[in-house]
Amino acid sequence: MVAADSPAPLRLFLADEAATLALGARLAPLLVPGFVVTLRGDLGAGKTTLVRGLLRALGFAGRVKSPTYALVETYNLSRLNCYHFDFYRLQDPREWIEAGFREVAGTEAVCLIEWPERARGQLPPVDLDISLAVSNHARSALLTACSPAGECLLVALSSPAPSA
Ligand SMILES: Nc1ncnc2c1ncn2[C@@H]1O[C@H](COP(=O)(O)OP(=O)(O)OP(=O)(O)O)[C@@H](O)[C@H]1O
Ligand SMILES: [Mg+2]
Repeated sequence: MVAADSPAPLRLFLADEAATLALGARLAPLLVPGFVVTLRGDLGAGKTTLVRGLLRALGFAGRVKSPTYALVETYNLSRLNCYHFDFYRLQDPREWIEAGFREVAGTEAVCLIEWPERARGQLPPVDLDISLAVSNHARSALLTACSPAGECLLVALSSPAPSA
């Protein structure tokens, strides 16, 4: 449930790939254990790019692969453990339960989920939804809080950075 005075969805213009990576990097320090992010948008909208920026900012130095075929990639990082899901190829939402991914729900890991609509009804409760859309050669992002934790993140993200 989101309170009536919850922050309005935040719309951002992402002029190029670097801007999408930078948004991921801004989100990284605001994530807390168990936080669940869904990433929506057409093929090529920039979902994996955003996750890449986020994981790099959390200290992951390797290659961030798209989990389209594996369904999930796991990252054990110093501050947080992350699961990066991509359900594009999920045929039946029950598949991910059979694969044991249900255990992920309620753990301390952060979940980053591309194509959440394909896992209908099987997802853990979502904290933040990010919808990406192609806009000419750039992208736009709409960030919507779906829980009190998501609201805290949106408020922090919208606040001006403290000056040094
Ligand atoms: N803000 C941006 N402006 C222009 N291009 C961008 C922007 N953000 C990402 N891109 C580019 O979009 C392309 C596709 O990005 P990405 O693989 O992240 O999409 P995706 O949403 O994960 O797609 P899929 O649904 O296939 O997994 C990449 O070439 C990336 O460089
Ligand atoms: Mg992707």
